[in-house]
Amino acid sequence: MARSTIPDQRPPSAGRSRVARLARALATLAALGALAGCNGIQSALDPASLDADRLYRLTTVLFAGGGAIFVGVMIIVLYAIYASPGERGWLGSRRTVIYGGVAFPSVTLSILFPYGLLVMRDTDVRSPDALPIEVVGEQYWWRVRYPEDRGRPAFTTANEIHVPVGRPVTISVTSADVVHAFWIPNLGGKIDMIPGRLNALSFTADRPGIYRGVCTEFCGEQHALMAFDVVVHPPEDFDVWRAAQERPGAEPASDFLRRGKELFQTGGCGNCHAVRGTGFDGQLGPDLTHVGSRRTIGAGVFPNNAGTLAGWISDTQHLKGGARMPSYGSLPGEDLRALAGYLESLQ
Ligand code: CUA
Repeated sequence: MARSTIPDQRPPSAGRSRVARLARALATLAALGALAGCNGIQSALDPASLDADRLYRLTTVLFAGGGAIFVGVMIIVLYAIYASPGERGWLGSRRTVIYGGVAFPSVTLSILFPYGLLVMRDTDVRSPDALPIEVVGEQYWWRVRYPEDRGRPAFTTANEIHVPVGRPVTISVTSADVVHAFWIPNLGGKIDMIPGRLNALSFTADRPGIYRGVCTEFCGEQHALMAFDVVVHPPEDFDVWRAAQERPGAEPASDFLRRGKELFQTGGCGNCHAVRGTGFDGQLGPDLTHVGSRRTIGAGVFPNNAGTLAGWISDTQHLKGGARMPSYGSLPGEDLRALAGYLESLQ
């Protein structure tokens, strides 16, 4: 048989334009990704503390330097491939190997390594004046304790950390079960939470805002739903927040809420959860003394309101399967509303 005589239907540029389209799409994606990553409540590229800013600058220098070297090497590789044999003789010369292969990396790394060490020296520095906070990683939430500080009493909360602008903060972390890791990208580096061991991380927030922290070590099936909010306040606002958190849980102000509190008792909620000042002092689950004041429930998973609280109580295992709290699906709707209303009233 003769070769097919059917002419190629594609225009001559089709192959190239497909490559060009693909390249353009990839470039757009990369640019979008880069832009989207630049700022936000959970981004190391949008530093909100002096420490995170140092890490950001170190990252920028290393990335830009590494990028420039990569481009340089690629240009040389392309040159080696496409230049005529007579033109590329210098590539194989002893001098190229000594300067490019030995001297250049030695000098570059000898500068970058001490630079990195200097940044590390100035980052995460303990201050005797720091606000102390203790965080315990649990499957799959965060126990947060504020020890006594400057004459103010200690208190416990959960899944939310508040700090003032301008004052150094030292967060001591550990774990109650498996290895978790603690990371607030906008404020500082990552640190492991290891059972039986205390690690600490210090930073000084330099602008108010709400940021998001996450668990960055796989710790079980709900690792991905283990987050928390970090609220950075102006100093006066932080004092107001602290004073409110130090108070015992609010007494119910209506019959409906009193019914909710009764259900809290009869349902056994107090065996696992504490509401300070009311006799409920369970320590297994999150402290609920001021649960109504928190931004989220389920460790950064759902917005906090009576509706989501009711949904959470009745169907915990569907919303976050593997969490230690069982679903209380048998509560009648009215009871569920009263119970959720009581929790919401714990401001
Ligand atoms: Cu805790 Cu991952």
